[in-house]
Amino acid sequence: MVARYGVEDSLLSMRVGVLTGGGDCPGLNAVIRAVSRRSFARGHDVVGVRAGWRGLVEGIFEPLGPREISGLLPRGGTILGTSRTNPYKLEGGVERVLANFREQELAALVAIGGEDTLGVATKLFEEHGLPVVGVPKTIDNDLSATDYTFGFDTAVFICTEAIDRLHTTAESHNRVMVVEVMGRHTGWIAVMSGIAGGADVILIPEQPITVEQACAEIRRRHERGKDFSIVVVSEGYELTYESGERRQVTQEAAQDEFGHIRFGGVGHALALDIEERTGYETRVTVLGHVQRGGSPTPRDRVLATRYGLKAADLVEEGKFGRMAALKGDAIVDVSLAQATKEIKTVPEDWYDVASAFFG
Ligand code: F6P
Repeated sequence: MVARYGVEDSLLSMRVGVLTGGGDCPGLNAVIRAVSRRSFARGHDVVGVRAGWRGLVEGIFEPLGPREISGLLPRGGTILGTSRTNPYKLEGGVERVLANFREQELAALVAIGGEDTLGVATKLFEEHGLPVVGVPKTIDNDLSATDYTFGFDTAVFICTEAIDRLHTTAESHNRVMVVEVMGRHTGWIAVMSGIAGGADVILIPEQPITVEQACAEIRRRHERGKDFSIVVVSEGYELTYESGERRQVTQEAAQDEFGHIRFGGVGHALALDIEERTGYETRVTVLGHVQRGGSPTPRDRVLATRYGLKAADLVEEGKFGRMAALKGDAIVDVSLAQATKEIKTVPEDWYDVASAFFG
């Protein structure tokens, strides 16, 4: 039985590390708060690791006490900072992580991240027995073995609001509005916000309809008297043409330490194609990092809180190499290996829901 504000006296005190890695997302602070609150209630100390895995490589820590975690529930970003540092890509990186972990006398680490951060956690657990548990974070919702990651609901909410707003200006000017959303190699944000916002065409990496098909849907719509359209495109969609030609639009930046290219720009390329092929005036909105900023939705706050409590429980039970996950309405635990084996893509039946409203 865990006392609400008091300290459980039957258990030994330990030092629990917490880190947030990869792209930030709304709800990170809510997880930090929940892990800490439950750990404090058990008499443990919580140590924040700064800037994701970089903090463990370089030994940058900060103690988290009740004052540090106060007021965190609605706060966006991460009070611990984050990075895309991959210790496996640094000379002696893994050895330094292990040495700093020992030096800080940590008994466990809660790693809050997506496929990259948790991929590192998986390897450190499997290869070195690092006592780590994971919490699934990402606006992209592309992590396997959990129904939803926290942060996704907020991103979908922001995109839906943008789509709603674009509707009124699109209608006033009789324009096609292309909205580019994030999601990397998956179209979860595009499909969910497109369904919620009533998009007329949605283009995602998993179900690459052609540019010609998209234009046909827009024309069909205009022929039945609707002289404006909303097109949602996921940043990872490859421009696909009837001729068989395919073109991935990316930024020219170098790959990050996890080998990821930087997406962005497909919206502009698609808008040019649409305007040229249909003759309808077309504009583009790239939502970018707005999708990741600011306060989490109530749903994400609750999910992040439940994940944080579960992670603290997994630490208590010594169930390392596991990740908190959502299955239906229940918080369960799954193996980190299972969660990071492959990314979770949008299944056809979800795209069918969206495409029922195309054109
Ligand atoms: O993984 C989250 C995400 O926001 C992706 O949707 C996007 O492609 C990427 O991160 C952007 O990364 P950065 O913050 O490095 O620009």
